[in-house]
Amino acid sequence: MKYSEHFDRLCEALEGSGAFLVAQDGKGRVNVMTIGWAQLGIIWGLPILTVLVRPSRYTHVLLESAAGFSVCVPKRGELKKELAYCGSKSGLEYDKVRALGLKLKEGVNGVKYLQGCELVYQCELYGRTDLQREALATGTLSKYYPDVEVPHTVYFGKILKAELF
Ligand SMILES: Cc1cc2nc3c(=O)[nH]c(=O)nc-3n(C[C@H](O)[C@H](O)[C@H](O)COP(=O)(O)O)c2cc1C
Repeated sequence: MKYSEHFDRLCEALEGSGAFLVAQDGKGRVNVMTIGWAQLGIIWGLPILTVLVRPSRYTHVLLESAAGFSVCVPKRGELKKELAYCGSKSGLEYDKVRALGLKLKEGVNGVKYLQGCELVYQCELYGRTDLQREALATGTLSKYYPDVEVPHTVYFGKILKAELF
């Protein structure tokens, strides 16, 4: 499908129970975390999906040496328990894939994604940048980042394949 189809379903998930972000580092370690923040659009003339990950997340460690990632959206109302688990437990302490019995599939360029999700974006990691405290509005800083130095890292993913199952 075209990357922009079903954008409303992506937004609905992000506004609700979230979507899964699957990250795999250069050593092959895989982790799944829940995200509520992401953007889809055009940058550098390419279809890009950006995700925002706090440096405190294990996912951040993996993405720093990753070649790609995927964002996987379950069917409406499904996998709520899994979303809650992946959004509260850290891969630093738990093997979330094993604990939940999640099935991973390999897509384009070896990008891993979750079987059983309805909407999947496979992405090549195309760039990263740390949000700068001084570039953010005071209200945003006090609400979201009262005491952290690097607010979120933004990872840019070039969409290699967007698929509806
Ligand atoms: C609905 C929901 C949305 C979330 N969105 C984000 C997000 O966009 N970015 C982020 O850094 N953490 C987000 N989190 C928090 C992480 O999912 C959570 O801290 C997770 O345990 C991190 O896992 P990890 O340490 O294995 O990477 C969200 C949590 C929930 C429940």
